[in-house]
Amino acid sequence: MAILKIARMGHPVLARTAEPVADPASPGLAALIEDMVETLADIGGRGLAAPQVHVPLRLVIFLAPGEGADGSDLVTLINPEITPLAKGTVDGWEGCLSVPGLRGLVPRWTRIRYRGLSPAGLPIDRIAEGFHARVVQHECDHLDGVLYPRRMTDLGKLVFESEMRWQPAPPDDDDESGEEMT
Ligand code: NI
Repeated sequence: MAILKIARMGHPVLARTAEPVADPASPGLAALIEDMVETLADIGGRGLAAPQVHVPLRLVIFLAPGEGADGSDLVTLINPEITPLAKGTVDGWEGCLSVPGLRGLVPRWTRIRYRGLSPAGLPIDRIAEGFHARVVQHECDHLDGVLYPRRMTDLGKLVFESEMRWQPAPPDDDDESGEEMT
């Protein structure tokens, strides 16, 4: 087990398209997942994508209550694909471990279907809404070299975390958005 270094905006690994995982059950991947889980817990974040720890593979982990294996909160998703199920998006505040100290107001689909593989190689096929949908979209963007500022429609809403108190909550915001780093 090890706590991994987080790549920050500007590192090329965050700007490239990550490669599909060839063998979800390989020992090397299991060790990487274990280290990512330990890293996320150490930082106190909500989600982490493999490129954020300098590994250009299509692998993300995130916390969503009760959505993990055996009802746990931790979801590990390999080679994910997202299908929007809502016509509209909703603005919510996001932070990112790779963009430290900042928060941005980002539009995301309100309802999505996501598919992928578990570390055991079993299919995952879920429908998500609210913060669950937001964190999946944020993490999967990392696999395509996209950081949240590129999804923003108003860069006037890119602010320092320490100045967040001046920002009104967006309409339809759920109370989790903006609270944690992904
Ligand atoms: Ni992020």
